[in-house]
Amino acid sequence: MTDKKPFAWETAIAWKNKDRIVVRGYDVNELTGTISFAEHFHLVLKGELPTPEVGRMTDAIMVNMAEHAMSPSSATVRFATSGGAELNAAVAAGVAGIGRLHGTADRPAELFLSVARRADEEGLADAEAARRVVAEMRAVKERMPGFHHAQHIRDPRTARLMDLSGKLGITGRHVTIARAMEDATEAVFGRRIWINGPGAMGCVGLDMGYEPLQLKALFIVCRSLSLCAHSIEEMTREKGWRASSNSPMVQPLDLSMQGPDHYDGPADRTLS
Ligand SMILES: CC(C)(COP(=O)(O)OP(=O)(O)OC[C@H]1O[C@@H](n2cnc3c(N)ncnc32)[C@H](O)[C@@H]1OP(=O)(O)O)[C@@H](O)C(=O)NCCC(=O)NCCS
Repeated sequence: MTDKKPFAWETAIAWKNKDRIVVRGYDVNELTGTISFAEHFHLVLKGELPTPEVGRMTDAIMVNMAEHAMSPSSATVRFATSGGAELNAAVAAGVAGIGRLHGTADRPAELFLSVARRADEEGLADAEAARRVVAEMRAVKERMPGFHHAQHIRDPRTARLMDLSGKLGITGRHVTIARAMEDATEAVFGRRIWINGPGAMGCVGLDMGYEPLQLKALFIVCRSLSLCAHSIEEMTREKGWRASSNSPMVQPLDLSMQGPDHYDGPADRTLS
């Protein structure tokens, strides 16, 4: 027992003592006012400062993905806030609303990696592996993560991210694979299924050197800005509960939308 070390968190991310805070080897005060938050994101998550191009693209993705009006996560934040949740609790609820179908940059990234793996393992050209994966997923009606958008159809964020990635010299194998998949949809679906914003983030992010989970983290970090804004606005502009019959518009929790007309479960019954 006595030769055991006292417990301590072992970490490669940062250390501190009474006078200093050191992040990945850099004094936090040297970083402060010197690097951007996007560069800091890369440093903290990946352990090294990014190249100027990757730093700029990380920042661009953060701006591009931070705010998206009403979405599953912002609506969740608003409902949680309307119940009186504190800012941090409401934001945590919103973050919990990011999932398989919303903010899914990690899932498209995994898909593009699987196409690259398939091409390598089967000796196929990337475009042919992309075509086969699109056809196979369509055959079993499996949705391709990172494609199509429920509201935009052709997501306006995608072209800007792809364009910037080209201009910054980032575009590489994974962007090319994503584009090949989009091209392949024309023959497979009889129409084009467009890469959406998180899909663009997924392929560009891989070409920037991020891992899928790090891309999910990038989405969570930048979208938390929006979630804070929606929570504070809900707190300061609305009365709470989202149900007041005095409100000038019908509220989402209004009684009029919760009556028997909107119920299709079993009819009234008794236990006896
Ligand atoms: C988000 C999503 C649920 C929206 O679906 P929707 O707008 O309700 O679209 P529908 O489910 O009605 O599908 C409409 C058509 O487009 C196709 N489609 C939609 N999204 C598709 C996708 N990701 N991959 C393949 N086909 C897709 C459907 O197969 C359907 O075609 P069909 O009628 O010929 O079978 C869906 O696009 C999806 O699952 N996308 C992947 C997840 C994703 O990237 N989410 C991030 C968005 S921010």
